[in-house]
Amino acid sequence: MRELIVSNHALGDRQALDRIWTEHGYWFFRDVLDQDALAALRREYVSQLKALELVDSEDGEPLWNGRPIVDFPATFDALHQRRVWQSFVKDPRINAFFEEALGDEIYWIPIDYYRLVAPTPGGDDKAYLGLHQDGMSNPGIDFVTCWIPLNDIDEKVGGLVIAEGQHERGYMDVVDGKVGFTAGPVIPEDSWSRAHYRPGDVLIFIKSMPHYGLGNSSDRFRLSLDIRAVRRSSNLPVVGTVKASSADQVTITTDESGDVTLYIDDETNLRGPAPGSPNPLPIVRAQVPEQLPPGTAVMATREGERALVLRPHL
Ligand SMILES: [Fe+2]
Repeated sequence: MRELIVSNHALGDRQALDRIWTEHGYWFFRDVLDQDALAALRREYVSQLKALELVDSEDGEPLWNGRPIVDFPATFDALHQRRVWQSFVKDPRINAFFEEALGDEIYWIPIDYYRLVAPTPGGDDKAYLGLHQDGMSNPGIDFVTCWIPLNDIDEKVGGLVIAEGQHERGYMDVVDGKVGFTAGPVIPEDSWSRAHYRPGDVLIFIKSMPHYGLGNSSDRFRLSLDIRAVRRSSNLPVVGTVKASSADQVTITTDESGDVTLYIDDETNLRGPAPGSPNPLPIVRAQVPEQLPPGTAVMATREGERALVLRPHL
């Protein structure tokens, strides 16, 4: 598989960073995130695995102790409740890095994406875990995805794979349950790119970048954080609590701009809560009052007074 291009040399040079972004749609930086902040984050993850009695030690690599892995959780509510990613990005050392890279103050979209992937020895390590683009169902907001490895992730441990050079083809479609570009050629095999990821590295990529996660056929868990950043100078999402909702409109009470009312139409991408899953489920307009009642924490994106996306957030 192709090796990601490292962009550390361009840090501090806005024009060089912008050139790389325009051409490649991603920046891969080596060893730029503070190791103490990462260690604190990793300890939170590992304590969850320890509580499941799947690792023996809280230090070093999260080696699987061999106990049967049954009903491995799809989400880790305790990490959400402890506001683990929020504390991580508040760390001045971490915040400063992302502000420098993006050249602006940053608004972090409130979506939890704690990734803990259990090993499946003998499994197909080339398994496609959901080819997609993060922008496919998130119109109205210009975010970048920041993928942060928390342990040593070689090809067996798996991790993120992106399609170099394929980010300017628009969005893929789902046809007969299969995701891919319907116009033009299929994604060339030699565009798939990855690296041997280590704590300290970060891969930041554009929302139209096709990507997937390799399976984990190693002897350890794979730990990563996947968070999304918006430049403060661009369109921010409407984040707050539902004050009133119907099939036609929603009023959201926000900290930053008081009450905001947005209209819902047939084009609005609506999602409702999906307990036990990080991915809210699609709903239709008639379900809005019941699925997103007053008091629900939600995020919306907008075009004028129209909601493009309306979804609960954790
Ligand atoms: Fe993704």
